[in-house]
Amino acid sequence: MKNTLSIIKPDATKRNLVDQINKLITTKDLKIVAQKRIKLEPDEAKAFYIVHKDKPFFNDLIKYMTSNEIVVQVLEGVNAIEDYRKIMGATNPEKAEDGTIRKNFAINIQENSVHGSDSEENAKIEIDFFFKNNEVS
Ligand code: CMP
Repeated sequence: MKNTLSIIKPDATKRNLVDQINKLITTKDLKIVAQKRIKLEPDEAKAFYIVHKDKPFFNDLIKYMTSNEIVVQVLEGVNAIEDYRKIMGATNPEKAEDGTIRKNFAINIQENSVHGSDSEENAKIEIDFFFKNNEVS
């Protein structure tokens, strides 16, 4: 079994879409094994997205990620990382396939409703960022 980090982002929590998004996640072979609803401080958002610090959208991304609560979740599955990325759809919702979370719910390339780890190495780093070992079953 593999784990991946899922974030349901501020645009989605503002619109009460958490249950609808989790319905799409759990219809596949993914199980939610840890979950919390939190409000990020700017320094935490900056630390999480440090790889994007030189991108032109970085400051807007931090403002957006701290604009409302987020729901952070650990998903478990045989192919958790790839399966969740398929369910999320492309970063830009205009390019996301029908039936994906971003096609259904995302507003634009920034307010794209969800985040998912892109590799096994990053999944571990991202899960450790939000969860202690004993919080993940
Ligand atoms: P995420 O998959 O969480 O990774 C980085 C985030 O930055 C991304 O989703 C979007 O929320 C945001 N992002 C990525 N590319 C752009 C872009 N070109 N313009 C604005 N925001 C972006």
